[in-house]
Amino acid sequence: MTDIFDFSPFPTLTSKGVVLRELDPEDAADLFVWRSDPEVQRYNSEPMREVRQASELIADLRREHSAQKGIHWAVTLSGDNRAIGLFGFVSWERFHHRAEVGYDLRRDHWGRGIATEALGAMLRFGFTRMRLNRVEAHTIADNHGSVRLLRRLGFEREGLRRAYSLEEDGTYHDGAIYGLLRRDHESSGQS
Ligand SMILES: CC(C)(COP(=O)(O)OP(=O)(O)OC[C@H]1O[C@@H](n2cnc3c(N)ncnc32)[C@H](O)[C@@H]1OP(=O)(O)O)[C@@H](O)C(=O)NCCC(=O)NCCS
Repeated sequence: MTDIFDFSPFPTLTSKGVVLRELDPEDAADLFVWRSDPEVQRYNSEPMREVRQASELIADLRREHSAQKGIHWAVTLSGDNRAIGLFGFVSWERFHHRAEVGYDLRRDHWGRGIATEALGAMLRFGFTRMRLNRVEAHTIADNHGSVRLLRRLGFEREGLRRAYSLEEDGTYHDGAIYGLLRRDHESSGQS
């Protein structure tokens, strides 16, 4: 019997011209483009300084996948294999049927609905193939693009972590926890 966690071959997901494929060591230079961009990294960790850091991240994520602790995809556009985003599930708790999503996209591709398609495809995969019951997202409360993306896909705000994150300008920002349950995803017609 096939192990439900054995995603072999690697699952490629598609939705309206957006393709989520396996992350490859050769994506390092492309990944570096947006992970070194302070605007993309504003609510995340420090921007990368060297392509080597992108290679290490890819190696880490591939190891995490082999250990069945999470799964990440390179986001591309149909007909162009170049990676423009990194979307994935982390903190996958199989016993509890839950996982957390993470996502970022190259800045010159923002605002075109790409994240909506990519995260939508991931949620369909998560609630079926990964058998998740709950998907969680942790975001900075005033990261408007991220919050609107989550709201649009049906996530509900469940809590606020006050002064959670220190930004470059020396101010603290609240963190917000969002959650989406399988039953709400199914009844929203997005499954
Ligand atoms: C968050 C992110 C992935 C959204 O990607 P995107 O492809 O631009 O999102 P979409 O085009 O699918 O838009 C989703 C929703 O967000 C809105 N949106 C997108 N960018 C926005 C912005 N900068 N400000 C306000 N709303 C924004 C869109 O209008 C849309 O809302 P609507 O359906 O109500 O109109 C992208 O902005 C990004 O990579 N940001 C930096 C990394 C990051 O912050 N990741 C999240 C860490 S928790």
